[in-house]
Amino acid sequence: MGQHHAQLVRLSTYLLIAVSISACNSNSNSSTRFNEKASDTTSTSVHQQITKLGEELFFDESLSRDGTQACATCHNPDHAFIDGRINETSLSQSTPSSVSSGQDFAALGDRNTPTASYAAFIPDFHFDSSDGLFKGGQFLDGREKNLHDQAGQPFLNPVEMQTLKTAVVTKAKEKYGNTLRELYGEAVFETVDRAYNAVTFSIAEFEKTEEFSPFDSKFDRVLKGEDSFTKQEALGLSLFKAENKGNCAACHTVPTLASTKQNSTFTDFSYDNLGVPRNDLVRDLNGKDYEFVDNGLFQNPLVNDTKLKGAFRVSTLRNIAVTAPYMHNGVFKDLKTVVHFYNTRDVDGALNPETWDPWRTAEVDATKNTEELGDLKLSDAEEDALVAFMKTLTDSRYEDLIPD
Ligand code: HEC
Ligand code: HEC
Repeated sequence: MGQHHAQLVRLSTYLLIAVSISACNSNSNSSTRFNEKASDTTSTSVHQQITKLGEELFFDESLSRDGTQACATCHNPDHAFIDGRINETSLSQSTPSSVSSGQDFAALGDRNTPTASYAAFIPDFHFDSSDGLFKGGQFLDGREKNLHDQAGQPFLNPVEMQTLKTAVVTKAKEKYGNTLRELYGEAVFETVDRAYNAVTFSIAEFEKTEEFSPFDSKFDRVLKGEDSFTKQEALGLSLFKAENKGNCAACHTVPTLASTKQNSTFTDFSYDNLGVPRNDLVRDLNGKDYEFVDNGLFQNPLVNDTKLKGAFRVSTLRNIAVTAPYMHNGVFKDLKTVVHFYNTRDVDGALNPETWDPWRTAEVDATKNTEELGDLKLSDAEEDALVAFMKTLTDSRYEDLIPD
């Protein structure tokens, strides 16, 4: 399917959903009309108004309980859609928090806030029977099927925006009532769920816009022949792909000029347990005791295979150089540490360069991957080359945030 065609199909899907949410005032052929002429000016402008509303909602702090926090607080567009704030869980004076603070500035989560950039390309949560793997889904354990379902959660989360559906709907009705009625029909406020759905649908549509996924990094420019890699970056890419070296591409799929945007975010969307250690600093501060274990994918209600304990979705590597700290719990602050972890996790005497202690035991040790990482035998220069290559995955607007 050509890229352009795929986009049209996606647009008509948005509109069909939008129309079915607003089903009440749409006459029976309007959905057919949207479906057939998704690219005509009427439907494009409806879609543009939905994303515009979604943008306002994404930045609106007043929707949190005390009016202190928006989606953008933790997914800041000036910082590659992560939470750039420093707090007591930060691993240095200049490293963004390992876990975000909630809207009361007190509650702390247990997972590092991932980027919302390129999240639109994560497929719906599913079991791929061809390779026997769970794939996709939003959140690091895939527990919400897609962006629309995901957007309903942060408002209600007791360590995030700490509010209620009714409160979100009341505030949205006050500020955006007319727009919501125009876009979703007069009946949009008939039930709280219906209005809440329109709010979260609009946010999800905004998250699908190019602002989140520009595909304009140096890597993309090189792919299109508009730029070229330094020697070190080129070495990094070859190590990234080589099965007997980094073998990173086994999970972090490398895009080609031919791969559609769908396959261009450096992940195959599957799940793995890398044997990441517990983040003790976070657990000391967030009220979870040391008995608590984050089992990742295994906590997803659709998953009951105990071999999947401790598995997390393979991360996108787009913007990775500017989205420290790393791993699902933000336990490492430098990209080079991550590479050194892959390289030496299982090597006797190897040290974590951030603490100068030996690598600590995995939080979920029994199921960790021992085949694809742990003793890669990469030299220091090869580790540096992998880091240099990953820096080229930064969207152009964030290039000035890349650390030396
Ligand atoms: C207090 C900080 C915070 C706020 C506010 C917040 N998020 Fe998040 N977001 C997170 C964390 C933490 C996760 C990962 C949680 C997990 O995996 O359990 C996440 C995950 C996500 C993801 C999934 C990304 C992925 O790779 O799976 C998306 C998309 C997202 N948030 C969008 C939003 C939207 C939309 C809002 C506003 C309605 C919002 N977030 C508000 C912290 C926040
Ligand atoms: C077996 C699959 C697999 C292989 C091979 C692999 N990764 Fe990963 N990678 C993952 C998974 C899964 C995560 C998320 C793990 C977590 O948070 O617990 C991840 C996370 C990362 C992160 C941190 C992402 C973030 O946002 O915090 C970086 C950086 C990374 N990988 C780079 C690499 C590099 C470089 C290589 C090769 C040396 C590599 N990976 C090889 C599966 C893999």
